[in-house]
Amino acid sequence: MDQAEGLRRLHRRATRVIAVASGKGGVGKTNVVANLAISLARSGHRVMVLDADLGLGNIDILLGLAPRYNISHVLSGEKTLRQVLVRGPQDIWVLPASSGVSAMAELDARGRSRLIDAVSAIDLQLDFLLVDCAAGIAGDVLTFSRAAQELIVVLSNEPASVADAYALIKVLSTQYGQRRFRLLPNMVRDAREGQALFAKIAGVSDRYLDVSLDLAGSIPLDAALRSAVRAQRAVVESAPDSAAARAFASLAERVQAWPLPDGAGGQLEFFMAQWLQADAAAPSA
Ligand SMILES: Nc1ncnc2c1ncn2[C@@H]1O[C@H](COP(=O)(O)OP(=O)(O)OP(=O)(O)O)[C@@H](O)[C@H]1O
Ligand SMILES: [Mg+2]
Repeated sequence: MDQAEGLRRLHRRATRVIAVASGKGGVGKTNVVANLAISLARSGHRVMVLDADLGLGNIDILLGLAPRYNISHVLSGEKTLRQVLVRGPQDIWVLPASSGVSAMAELDARGRSRLIDAVSAIDLQLDFLLVDCAAGIAGDVLTFSRAAQELIVVLSNEPASVADAYALIKVLSTQYGQRRFRLLPNMVRDAREGQALFAKIAGVSDRYLDVSLDLAGSIPLDAALRSAVRAQRAVVESAPDSAAARAFASLAERVQAWPLPDGAGGQLEFFMAQWLQADAAAPSA
């Protein structure tokens, strides 16, 4: 193996970190993360999901998993990260959130160093880490969104969702200099409604913000997804031929084709470092 091939291999093994946020709650973040994760895993990628809704996380419920432990057990030193991780459909790894820790900001130095140690010790050779953010546009949501390599902003065709998606983009761009955002309209009638929603936000941000927005695709409103949620399964598993499942599959295709951005941003170690140093970096406002 020559040096160039060695470098290419290293490159291929880089973990891509994608955060999924929305501002407004209940617009479909957790479903996007779960179904995208499973679809990527189905294409042969090693995928981990971080439930970053630290206080109220529920991706384990969505996937019908019953984790015995969660991130709080890593922080207390009772368990290693490996003992806390659970496997979901298509062998995705899930790091369950805890109800005991409401924000990373509350972690003391010991908790932080435990988490760094735990993550450094992990050797999962991940291709993708998907981060399911909490609702809102403050605190951890901003930290995770900034630390990730890619940010998918999920929105629906409701004024509050559009306003909150725009507010999230505005805060990240004006306060943190973030420039690239991917929008994912959810619960739309058809692709055209998704494009119109994208055009609405792009129109305003082109005028007032220095950002570049991409339309990541769109996910239709689909009764099959609702049934899947009730059955505690991902729709790509329970109804793979449904419109929503097909949209998630094509989203996964597109995500795999996203170019690797330059620089260290988004690599797993970088992501962890950003996350854990969030306090120091956060503005005092
Ligand atoms: N494409 C869709 N078609 C039909 N229903 C949907 C769709 N996407 C989401 N829903 C409905 O919205 C509900 C909320 O979805 P989800 O839990 O993924 O949102 P969320 O953004 O993660 O919420 P939270 O902000 O509480 O974390 C689902 O339980 C489902 O009933
Ligand atoms: Mg959620």
